[in-house]
Amino acid sequence: MNSAMTSSADSILSKLTVSPQTIQEGKRAEHSLDNISSPLAEITSPLSRNSSTRSMRVTGARRIPNAERERRSSRRSASATTSMSPAQAFLLSWNREGITAEPAQERPDDEGKSFGSKTKYIIGRTINQGGFGVIKEAHTMTDSGQKLVLAVKIVRKAVTEGESADGDKLHQDLEHEVSVWRWLEHPHILRLHEVYESEFATFCVMDLNVGGTLFDEVRKCRASAAQNDGRKGLKPKLARSYAYQLASALRYLHQDMRVCHRDVKLENCLIDMSVAAAEREEGGNLRLCDFGLADFLHSDSTVDEVSPERSGIAPPTPAHSRHPTTSSVIGTLEYASPRGLSVNRKLFETAGDVWAFGVIVYALCTGELPFRHPMPAKTVELILQAEWDDGALKRAAAGSDAVIELVQGCLEREIGGRWTVGEVLGSVWFEGCGGGRRGGEGGW
Ligand SMILES: Nc1ncnc2c1ncn2[C@@H]1O[C@H](COP(=O)(O)OP(=O)(O)O)[C@@H](O)[C@H]1O
Ligand SMILES: [Mg+2]
Repeated sequence: MNSAMTSSADSILSKLTVSPQTIQEGKRAEHSLDNISSPLAEITSPLSRNSSTRSMRVTGARRIPNAERERRSSRRSASATTSMSPAQAFLLSWNREGITAEPAQERPDDEGKSFGSKTKYIIGRTINQGGFGVIKEAHTMTDSGQKLVLAVKIVRKAVTEGESADGDKLHQDLEHEVSVWRWLEHPHILRLHEVYESEFATFCVMDLNVGGTLFDEVRKCRASAAQNDGRKGLKPKLARSYAYQLASALRYLHQDMRVCHRDVKLENCLIDMSVAAAEREEGGNLRLCDFGLADFLHSDSTVDEVSPERSGIAPPTPAHSRHPTTSSVIGTLEYASPRGLSVNRKLFETAGDVWAFGVIVYALCTGELPFRHPMPAKTVELILQAEWDDGALKRAAAGSDAVIELVQGCLEREIGGRWTVGEVLGSVWFEGCGGGRRGGEGGW
């Protein structure tokens, strides 16, 4: 377990009582995706969730009543005035010196502002601004005086009447994300350290990732295909290494933690390049992030099989018109499995993550998504047929019978025939990875 986080007196969610076994209630959300876009294309107002490129979230995590929020935040602001360590004093002076001209309208999440118990962190530059809020650098010092740069996800609270519905929804989503993420500790999963709540926002402190995402890697390799004898995709060694690291993370989630991610996609695979030179040569360290749609698996499969009407994901639909639509997708359309599009899907199926993993392996090898059409309705059709171009995979730089067998196992239409993550890790393509261990038994 994450000791740094659980020991934090200010960790708001350590006080929450969200049951790990609770299936969330879903909400219907419009979702039209006609392009795969860079995370940078997701920029919208920090409090708006209406970006068409965002993953769809279901809500229902327990909410913190207003009175409770106030009690917690007032306790927190009181703690900021208590005595400071030398490290904290240094950070505070950095904070004051760093600001020469005050911005017209200061916000507590501006660069140079502090947050956390005894002003432990100073906010740095913006890394990514999404529909949920913003990700920024967070500077701190250890008690031994070592400077550290981490990252912080900041989700603002509603400040005006008009923002209140959006702001509350964002906070429910974040609380849910943290209620799963806080338990996870694995070399290929982005680590959450601490969570703070103020009257203004919630701050999730996590490891800083330097190096972009798998989406960026695929985009780069598309641009350089011509230099590689026209053979598309990542170099075989890199494609295999990233795929193996992602499979290791999914094995940990599915088998050890009984968690389903439900938003496995290129943009949610961070590539950490702040590693030793030798490891950089190998492509760096992959870290899966974004647990906004993740949830604990339910042990009772009959309860798991909730109807969309009950879950709130889709409105009541007449029996005759029960066909898949893009508006009933949870996650991102291009990565959704045939069952994930079905109105009778199980909500928390690990098989959906394995399908999305197959989509990623195909994209790493070919530079293209296997199911993609400018018209979302056509993309749905392609997914339902589960037909993808194995010729493209064969012609790819990393193409081989072994990788085709692996992708076939993951993009199997019927859930019964689809591989589990243990079978994925035991595939011929991964022979020799992770010290040669096979079959899902430790080592990853
Ligand atoms: N710890 C981090 N360090 C660096 N970049 C990050 C970090 N966490 C997230 N990002 C960037 O921000 C993007 C959005 O973060 P994510 O948690 O996936 O939120 P969203 O719910 O908006 O998809 C990621 O795709 C990645 O590019
Ligand atoms: Mg994301």
